[in-house]
Amino acid sequence: MDKTDIAGFNPSGHFDQLSSKYDDLIGLMTGDIARYTLQTLIETPSSDMTIHDNACGTGLVTEYLQHVSSKTGTYPKMIHATDFVPSVTKLMQNKATQQGWKKVDISVMDSQDLTFADGSFDLSITNFGIFFLPDPQKGADQIYRTLKVGGTAVVTAWKERRMMDTVAVAQKTIRPDLESLQSPWAELWSKEETLRNVLVNAGFKAENVRIVEKRTDSVVEPFLRDPEMVARSYPAAVEGWSDEEKGKLGQEMLRIARERDPEGGGAGGLYSVAYIAVVKK
Ligand SMILES: C[S@@+](CC[C@H](N)C(=O)[O-])C[C@H]1O[C@@H](n2cnc3c(N)ncnc32)[C@H](O)[C@@H]1O
Repeated sequence: MDKTDIAGFNPSGHFDQLSSKYDDLIGLMTGDIARYTLQTLIETPSSDMTIHDNACGTGLVTEYLQHVSSKTGTYPKMIHATDFVPSVTKLMQNKATQQGWKKVDISVMDSQDLTFADGSFDLSITNFGIFFLPDPQKGADQIYRTLKVGGTAVVTAWKERRMMDTVAVAQKTIRPDLESLQSPWAELWSKEETLRNVLVNAGFKAENVRIVEKRTDSVVEPFLRDPEMVARSYPAAVEGWSDEEKGKLGQEMLRIARERDPEGGGAGGLYSVAYIAVVKK
């Protein structure tokens, strides 16, 4: 994988700035896909399972697992949640304390250099994290290494991000002098083979790699109800803008989304589509 693919993008600074607002916009989408995956694509984790929530962010994967466990009364043996941005893990720790999570250990760790022993996990979930790594192959190698034989890995990526495309077009209209939002990884990871290849190159058997596509409309209704949410919840979209310019973003996005999809009221300019890889070692 060419490391220059994410040149000019600093994931650490980006997520540090975003952390407290993450769940209000980006997390609506990543959390929706996480819940779909856990509900429909894999079996409910049992009490003898050790789980890795890799590049955990604010902990939406673990939060859902805890929600399920609190209903069934069955908690996995341990969930190890790791992310390399301390402010993000701190937010997750606060959630853990407030919600009384059980058997969750949260730590700061680079997904390219996991300190867990070989074969530690029965289930390893990397929800929208792999493409942020400077070397995604290293991340996939670590997922493979730390998974038990017979264990399951879930790795997700974005095929389409229409909300983000709409943000970028609106940025060009309002502040054509500034560079629009950078996602240098987006084109490469919009191809299914990128996800498939890193998994196979990590050691997973090609015939064990199952990739499902899933659309999420989770931001559509919240955005249509409150178009200002993007400027509020995604600071990178309006960096260097005046308050007046920030106030224009939502309406401009609404106009673009409706133009793209008049019949759907704009949904066609706002949804995202995920690739969800589920693979057994
Ligand atoms: C889009 S968020 C996904 C968070 C979470 N998994 C979710 O489903 O909402 C991507 C996460 O990857 C983390 N990340 C980026 N590079 C990383 C690295 N090298 N090691 C560990 N985590 C990393 C970021 O800090 C961020 O929390």
